[in-house]
Amino acid sequence: MRLFVALDIPNEIRARISTFIAGVRGFAPDVRFVSPESLHVTLKFIGEFDDGRLNQVTKALSGIEGQHFDLSFRSVGFFTARSPRVFWIGIEAGYELKALASAVDSALAPLGVEREQRDFTPHLTLARTGSGRPQGSRADRNQPKMYELKARVEMMPPPDFGTMTAREFFLYLSKLSPKGAQYTKLERFPLR
Ligand code: 2AM
Repeated sequence: MRLFVALDIPNEIRARISTFIAGVRGFAPDVRFVSPESLHVTLKFIGEFDDGRLNQVTKALSGIEGQHFDLSFRSVGFFTARSPRVFWIGIEAGYELKALASAVDSALAPLGVEREQRDFTPHLTLARTGSGRPQGSRADRNQPKMYELKARVEMMPPPDFGTMTAREFFLYLSKLSPKGAQYTKLERFPLR
């Protein structure tokens, strides 16, 4: 099973993002936009994990004693600016967000989940092209599919999608299909 750990977003922020996507998607008709109901803030991508050991993941994540915190969704940007392949919304948050991502990383390492090599960059992915991998791949070079989108959004005033309080995080199951990934929440973990 393919797993990841993420924050969900409230419906009013989801609706604002959805309206924004509807306004810009025409500038990049060939890229894969995330469907509004699937929007999330990834804390940790686990990847393929043995179904029979799911309870170990749940137990490890239950041991995290994180605090609730506020996140604001402001501005948009692109990973690898010269050859953009991920279009995202920027997140402003206190130290608690990075602390939570780091706690998740540390909690899962003893189960054999590879630790993050890079700094956590908080973002909410709106669209991907090419490999879709956060770090990119060779095949992503010279993909012009997001050039017009990038030029257009750079001319707009920076959007503001609002602020939420994160009081919980989730373990998600990701099922890949030709129609795109389907995400299902498997477990909820409260923050104090
Ligand atoms: P991102 O969109 O926040 O960058 C579920 O698939 C989530 O896990 C995605 O939203 C993506 O995070 C992240 N993800 C997907 N594939 C990945 C990979 N190969 N390596 C790391 N993170 C990945």
